[in-house]
Amino acid sequence: MTAAPDPETRARFDAAPWDRIARDAMGPAGTVPTMLSEAEQRLYFWLARDWAQGAGAIVDLGCFAGGSTARLAEGRRQAGHAPHVHAYDRFTASDRLKARLLYPAGIAPFDGQDILPLARRLLAPWDGLVRLHPGEIEDDLWTGQPIEVLTIDAAKSAGAADAIAGLFFPSLIPGASVVVQQDYFHWRQPWVAAQMERLAECFVPLAVCPGATAVFLCTRAPDAATLARAACDGLPDAGLLADLDAARRRMARFGRDARFARMRAAIAANPGERVAWRFRKP
Ligand SMILES: C[S@@+](CC[C@H](N)C(=O)[O-])C[C@H]1O[C@@H](n2cnc3c(N)ncnc32)[C@H](O)[C@@H]1O
Repeated sequence: MTAAPDPETRARFDAAPWDRIARDAMGPAGTVPTMLSEAEQRLYFWLARDWAQGAGAIVDLGCFAGGSTARLAEGRRQAGHAPHVHAYDRFTASDRLKARLLYPAGIAPFDGQDILPLARRLLAPWDGLVRLHPGEIEDDLWTGQPIEVLTIDAAKSAGAADAIAGLFFPSLIPGASVVVQQDYFHWRQPWVAAQMERLAECFVPLAVCPGATAVFLCTRAPDAATLARAACDGLPDAGLLADLDAARRRMARFGRDARFARMRAAIAANPGERVAWRFRKP
């Protein structure tokens, strides 16, 4: 069984109010280096400032140097909500990534791959509001505290997507929590769309946003049995393709058929592959 958002929620997201937020509204958060698109940055800020009610934590999975976390934390600060923004990452960056993303954003060149000190420094303006969780997300334990906004940019394998769902989805608040799947339309990660389709009884799509983002309202927090049934790791390609076709139909109103076609082609070009970085272009 699938649920629908109430008409007011649907209308609010359909209006995409984050697109009208001025860049300087994000204050110092707008200067923290990020891989997010302009639209995604505004969306994150809006979700924290205007959508969230302070009913639970904000959890940012895959924060890199803190760019996404800063937009969320500034939104939370401006809203005056107390629950923390929890940011998870390995906090490492290759020399190539540093040269491509950090130095052009004004970060002075530095040795080594550890970016935890940099993230701490960049996130200092939100010190009391942000908690960093360095390491593998899959190795962490969530406290069980309610989660109001969950942003996911770390489901880089089918196994990681399953583990993230198992750790964090049970703490979502039905009718109030949103999940931002930042790689939903990414051709290298077709299991993300498949996973959300397999959990269609618990989530309804609310919005899409360039680059590859889709936003979902949680209508029911999945329990362990539901999550086990929805697991994507070990799912054969035929199952993945069937889930993608169902997801394409569910997302039809957002006009992203070409993205689903690319995901299908990527599966055909990479049979059995379930790790994003190993995908070859279709
Ligand atoms: C695309 S980047 C995130 C970009 C970030 N949200 C921003 O605003 O710039 C993905 C991040 O996820 C992290 N990541 C991926 N898989 C992870 C895992 N299993 N555990 C911890 N971090 C992970 C990577 O280290 C990387 O920094």
